[in-house]
Amino acid sequence: MSWIKNLKMWLFNQMCTSDARLDGKTVVITGASGGIGKETARDLYARGARVILACRDIEKTNNAVENIKNNPPSRVNKDEYKNNAGELAIYFLDLRSLKSVRDCAKNLLTNEAAIHILINNAGVATHPYEKTQDGNETTFQVNHLGHFLLTLLLLPKMHLSSPNCRIINVSSFSYIFVDIDFNDINLEKSYAPFKSYAQSKLANILFTKELARRLKEANIRGINVYSLHPGVTGTEIARYGNNIFPYATYCHGLCAKLFCKNVEQGTQTTVYCAVDEETANDTGFYYSNCSVATTYRKANDPQYAEKLWNVSCQLLHLEPEEDFITFLKTVSRQML
Ligand SMILES: NC(=O)c1ccc[n+]([C@@H]2O[C@H](COP(=O)([O-])OP(=O)(O)OC[C@H]3O[C@@H](n4cnc5c(N)ncnc54)[C@H](OP(=O)(O)O)[C@@H]3O)[C@@H](O)[C@H]2O)c1
Repeated sequence: MSWIKNLKMWLFNQMCTSDARLDGKTVVITGASGGIGKETARDLYARGARVILACRDIEKTNNAVENIKNNPPSRVNKDEYKNNAGELAIYFLDLRSLKSVRDCAKNLLTNEAAIHILINNAGVATHPYEKTQDGNETTFQVNHLGHFLLTLLLLPKMHLSSPNCRIINVSSFSYIFVDIDFNDINLEKSYAPFKSYAQSKLANILFTKELARRLKEANIRGINVYSLHPGVTGTEIARYGNNIFPYATYCHGLCAKLFCKNVEQGTQTTVYCAVDEETANDTGFYYSNCSVATTYRKANDPQYAEKLWNVSCQLLHLEPEEDFITFLKTVSRQML
């Protein structure tokens, strides 16, 4: 099957070529217990960063930490890894609970001297219909709303840690297939597993653009915002896939093995957005295969992005104020 291997090499060989180091930098990655998040943690740890894995399953995350410590990314040899890697730490975060988001933010703000890079990576797909204890549809809260709140709460600390801070929202090309159903944001009348996922991934891109706009408008420099499609990658993302059709999880696993990116390849665009010098002055863009990519349809509509911002604030019972710095102060006062 070497032709498959060659084809995959040709299709997926866009690697982040930057050898930037992150010594002295602190990185927070949500959903780093497995998949793309874990691989991203490995790469940034190898670059000398203090990497915080913000996860809900502590036993699984402990195993991930052991695995990361003992196995370098393929571009780094073992000795170099041992001598030049950074630190790993675990914080509890369950995005299904806004209280957990607030507690995690509180702990990070109390214990960490600085936060330079935030990677909003955690995600669920094709989840069965369920509402969180906060009353939101689970996929929307885990993939968008929880990250929206976490980001707002960490922004003041990132501002103090700037310049050269980056916020990265891991989205997906699937955003292109849907609009956000603002009349039924919890999809009570029209739930479909793929629709809820795609809508949340559109929200990741709109949030990126709107946050970049608000930061610019408030004259807050040195925090750049990125969204990206990692590429279809062999991870556990399809664990609930049988909700779409029987054996979907199995089919995804098989297709992923044969035709998709492996996890290290699927991590490259996240790493590119997090460290590459080429992207250092970019903000608000969407990336795929380690380059800026065009966005389509509603992802290009600034009014739609503003509407999502306001609806997200409403769902969190926050007043969206005109002045962004005052708004951040209010969020911290109300939520912490
Ligand atoms: N793989 C792909 O083909 C693909 C394509 C496009 C976009 N993406 C995006 O890439 C990101 C990473 O996904 P992946 O492919 O690496 O999938 P994955 O292997 O399923 O990893 C998802 C991560 O998110 C965590 N997570 C799920 N629910 C959470 C919650 N309530 N609170 C905190 N963490 C939670 C998981 O933790 P547990 O282990 O505890 O569940 C896991 O660490 C997602 O945003 C996904 O939408 C993936």
